[in-house]
Amino acid sequence: MSNFWSMWIIVLTTITIVLIVWLLFSNRKITKSGENQTTGHVYDGIEEYDNPLPSWWIKMFVITIVFAIGYLIAYPGMGKFPGLLHWSSVGKWENEVQQAEHATEALYKSFMDKDITTLATDGKAMRTAKRIFANNCAICHGVNAEGSYGFPNLTDQDWLYGGEPEQIRHSISQGRNGTMPAWESMLGTDGLESMSQHLSDLSKGKADDSSPAANQYAMLCAACHGPDGGGNQMMGAPKLNDNIWLYGGDLGAIKQSIGKGRSGQMPAHHDKLSEEKIHLLTAYVYQLSMPVVGSKH
Ligand code: HEC
Ligand code: HEC
Repeated sequence: MSNFWSMWIIVLTTITIVLIVWLLFSNRKITKSGENQTTGHVYDGIEEYDNPLPSWWIKMFVITIVFAIGYLIAYPGMGKFPGLLHWSSVGKWENEVQQAEHATEALYKSFMDKDITTLATDGKAMRTAKRIFANNCAICHGVNAEGSYGFPNLTDQDWLYGGEPEQIRHSISQGRNGTMPAWESMLGTDGLESMSQHLSDLSKGKADDSSPAANQYAMLCAACHGPDGGGNQMMGAPKLNDNIWLYGGDLGAIKQSIGKGRSGQMPAHHDKLSEEKIHLLTAYVYQLSMPVVGSKH
């Protein structure tokens, strides 16, 4: 809140309270005569009295005003003034989070002591992990981790960066950034067309190795995607000799990938999630693709 708005609120609130007090006391007529005075208004023969407000009513009103002032001194309300109790909703929330974390700390410590393969078979741990996954990863990889356009499926054996525990941990903790250069200008319209056709054939296992496109592939693409299209986990270059696609396998999508390039971003999580949670998630992702263990809670 800027100083201006802070002052604005303080001045407005003070004026309102002063006005209310003034209104209250200026209307508190004291009649000594004991006679009922009237306002002079008459409706259907009923006269409107102009008696002073009942004293219990005035007292209630005074109590509410005193309460309001007390409240504004103790709690935040007057612009930026934090209140003498220094209460804040953020503080309250932080307190609750701290308590919850304290309660689960021991649990996470026990997870930390287990290696990934053991942890992956621990049903209780994996149920906890599934919740962490739902909160942090599902937005991109899907609730069942099966991925979608641009977001890799984590439940299959097809890995961009590798499915061993240390590779998975690295992906989660440090993030990944796959960069596929754009080849439009290098290949030209016809070249782009035939290269796309070549990859479509390659993914179906019927590529012609002696075609000009295959030659070009060996020159331009093999360094990252491998001579046979087997991919390269060091670069995060996907396998191109299977029918699993990150960005779609129809000719149009393949052309788009090659022509314009791609840049998938997996955000780093080491500053968002504790080491324990990353450990747990590593085990979770690890077991997702295991047909034997694959408990998929
Ligand atoms: C903002 C979207 C986003 C979020 C959130 C996200 N990811 Fe990813 N993740 C990606 C993308 C995109 C890639 C592929 C990166 C690439 O194309 O190079 C990826 C890649 C990965 C990989 C590597 C897959 C492989 O085939 O090697 C793993 C493992 C992974 N993510 C796990 C997770 C986990 C666990 C979480 C939750 C902590 C998570 N991701 C959260 C977008 C996301
Ligand atoms: C510098 C390394 C590099 C080179 C060279 C390279 N690529 Fe890629 N390519 C990648 C990476 C990394 C990705 C994944 C991008 C991502 O994760 O977003 C990719 C993705 C692709 C995809 C999308 C795959 C999918 O599953 O949707 C296609 C198609 C592709 N490349 C074809 C080619 C072709 C054809 C060439 C040669 C003309 C080529 N690439 C050269 C690194 C490279």
